[in-house]
Amino acid sequence: MSGDADLRPGEVTVDLPPATDAQLRFIGKIRTPFQTPADCPRQGDPEEGPVCRLELIPELEPALEGIERSSWLEVLYWLDRSRRDLVLQSPKRDGRTRGTFSLRSPVRPNPIGLSRVRLVRHFGTVLEVRGLDCLDGTPLLDIKPDRCDHAVRERAAHRDGDDAG
Ligand SMILES: C[S@@+](CC[C@H](N)C(=O)[O-])C[C@H]1O[C@@H](n2cnc3c(N)ncnc32)[C@H](O)[C@@H]1O
Repeated sequence: MSGDADLRPGEVTVDLPPATDAQLRFIGKIRTPFQTPADCPRQGDPEEGPVCRLELIPELEPALEGIERSSWLEVLYWLDRSRRDLVLQSPKRDGRTRGTFSLRSPVRPNPIGLSRVRLVRHFGTVLEVRGLDCLDGTPLLDIKPDRCDHAVRERAAHRDGDDAG
């Protein structure tokens, strides 16, 4: 998705060196009710947003052990339907532009999305969460315990001479 026809007034693209293979592997996919970009919120809502599913590949089921220790998670995903060559963007389509790295736009050289989500339920290779803003079928890159939950546990573990992980 990178035709000039998609450009808004004032937007600027560059020719970038070819993407190298960073050896990322998709760990699963995200199922959401959002079928088109127009259906997606700009950012997810972890309180009122719909329940979405993170579906991991079966091999990774053991990697979810202990996930319920965090009620909040950070989810990283690959915004696979984004163009990757815009350096100046016009979010409001009004000809006024901002640099890509000053925006959370999905359009970026490496289209990685990051959302803080609330964990609703875990079963098997599936996590049900609230707070996502991505299209149905978006590839999943990583899941981490939220920094706040993690920091609290780390401090407690340090106090108790334990390893919180
Ligand atoms: C503004 S981005 C924010 C992503 C993430 N929460 C972040 O801050 O890094 C969310 C928007 O990306 C677009 N989007 C969602 N899934 C996408 C996908 N798989 N490929 C390309 N664009 C997508 C939708 O327009 C959605 O509203």
